[in-house]
Amino acid sequence: MNDLILIESASARNKKLANISQDQVSPQADRPSGVPRHVGQSENTRLKQENFRSVIETLLTIAIGASRRNSWTAKNYVEVIDCNAGTGKYKDKLDGSQLIGSPILLKERLDTSVAKKTVQYSLALIEKDSKQAQELKANLPQQGQLSFFGITKPTKAEVFIGNNNQLLTGEVKSWLLTRRRELNISPNLEPIGLIYSDPNGLIDCPWESLAKMSKDKAFKRHDILIYVNAVAIKRTNCSKIATGTDPDSLLNLGDYFDAIDKNHWLISELKGDWQQFFLLGMNTALVSESNLFASIGFIPLYDKGKGFDANGSNRFQQANYTQKELKQQNQEF
Ligand SMILES: C[S@@+](CC[C@H](N)C(=O)[O-])C[C@H]1O[C@@H](n2cnc3c(N)ncnc32)[C@H](O)[C@@H]1O
Repeated sequence: MNDLILIESASARNKKLANISQDQVSPQADRPSGVPRHVGQSENTRLKQENFRSVIETLLTIAIGASRRNSWTAKNYVEVIDCNAGTGKYKDKLDGSQLIGSPILLKERLDTSVAKKTVQYSLALIEKDSKQAQELKANLPQQGQLSFFGITKPTKAEVFIGNNNQLLTGEVKSWLLTRRRELNISPNLEPIGLIYSDPNGLIDCPWESLAKMSKDKAFKRHDILIYVNAVAIKRTNCSKIATGTDPDSLLNLGDYFDAIDKNHWLISELKGDWQQFFLLGMNTALVSESNLFASIGFIPLYDKGKGFDANGSNRFQQANYTQKELKQQNQEF
């Protein structure tokens, strides 16, 4: 994507943001006094878990189906990468109940299809923090390691410890190419896959590597799903500006995903006080399943042939700007 005409430059946007205090972008502005800050985060995690569950159910159902139908892909095989895996299990700070994170939701969904013998998969889980990565290993359901006549086959899910931006195009890519050779997948085929990033802030997302992977023939069929917490990003930018960062040096969301080469981008509904949503970049024919995507709240944002969709851009602007900025823009027109 290279013509983000509807999306104002980062510089102009951040100058407007500089005039807005952090509290004005806080979802806690109308929170009753005395309610602790983590309560918002807890609601946020639960809502994210629910949203993610329905998104991957639809995405993986479509992907697994497509891996059966198309001659260009590896038959009945999908690859999934979680770039910000975390520990896999959390305690809800509100009521102590258990929240299940993305790596386990992904593995459980893939294992359901394996049990029905409809697919084989490789699942790469990346986590920077080694303590969290160890916890994740312990929390992962049965690894599915196979042993034939004393020869141990590699596991289907692998935890990689380190920085996602380096690992994605390094060790993770090598592991996936090795898996393909082991599964006798021809190098001419283009396996279907999904790369997911759920960063705490924009910098935890491996933008550079995502851009590289999107241009790599071996991975160009991998859809890219990015979870965005719009309010958290606006808050971070506001506090950076408040502590002296030049607004011109800050990038906005549009600048980041502009570099990723995908033919179609979809945007999900903005949900909750934290305006959380997903961006989904695709190259495959999966986009023709528009009814299924619509059923989980996704609408088109950008299409390489047609440009920006008015409704999608409107939603993107809502996420990228504060209410006050949007009001200012309306007054300016
Ligand atoms: C919001 S949490 C992810 C939660 C997880 N997706 C889930 O659903 O449970 C973000 C995680 O990304 C990890 N992280 C941050 N920067 C990273 C990086 N550059 N490379 C790999 N992991 C990173 C953090 O340690 C944290 O565990």
